[in-house]
Amino acid sequence: MAPRLFVNVDHVATVRQARRTVQPDPVEAALVAVSTGKVVGITVHLREDRRHINDNDVARMKSALHVPFNLEMSCTEQIVGICLRTHPEEATLVPENREEVTTEGGLDMNRQFNRVREVTRRLRADGIMVSLFIDPNSTSVKLAADAGATHVELHTGRYCDAPPDTRPRELEALREAAIQAHAMGLVVNAGHGLSSSNVGPVAAIPHLLDLNIGHSIIARAVLVGLPQAISEIHAAMQVAPQD
Ligand code: PXP
Repeated sequence: MAPRLFVNVDHVATVRQARRTVQPDPVEAALVAVSTGKVVGITVHLREDRRHINDNDVARMKSALHVPFNLEMSCTEQIVGICLRTHPEEATLVPENREEVTTEGGLDMNRQFNRVREVTRRLRADGIMVSLFIDPNSTSVKLAADAGATHVELHTGRYCDAPPDTRPRELEALREAAIQAHAMGLVVNAGHGLSSSNVGPVAAIPHLLDLNIGHSIIARAVLVGLPQAISEIHAAMQVAPQD
């Protein structure tokens, strides 16, 4: 089976914030995305600087959605508190750096292990599934399991950015990490930088449950509309995993 699609609607809010107004509404976009029947869940990243999604969006998203809601978040106390109050089905812990344009790498599981383990424990105690956004290497996968996560999300950014000669190596790293994580009992997701033109080989990696895709969908939606943009990426994902 092909992986399932979670749409990240952060950049609908980015357009809204360009004018600090109320349109376009990321919650409305999420409902349009779900209405296509091709999207199993919605993801947003509540960044500490609130550059796109804000606290009110998170609360409205939770009450409007009837599909799983995945909140991407850093491990800061304020954001952890919002997550516990909102109670999304899934939380994805990510590293966050104010200067970055987007999440640049996976969690540094060696350096942040204690904090990640503590936040994972608190969210899981509240019934929230916890995914850790990690680079595809065996140390990070092992430490994610040790931290008590239910899921990992493998960072596909290096694969997406790689020139053609090193792309196969980056794809192989994702594949090996997916196999290892699955063998350790973790649910495996992936995302970052995926588009209709590069998602096929990732969708064929075994054991992937969900792909989180944002920027390329919203960018395409500006030109052809959100349902059409979702149809295109969904079609590009329909490849059978190769074991
Ligand atoms: N997964 C994670 C953990 C992310 O931080 C992001 C970006 O917010 C995505 C997936 C989606 O990446 P993109 O917008 O490049 O599709």
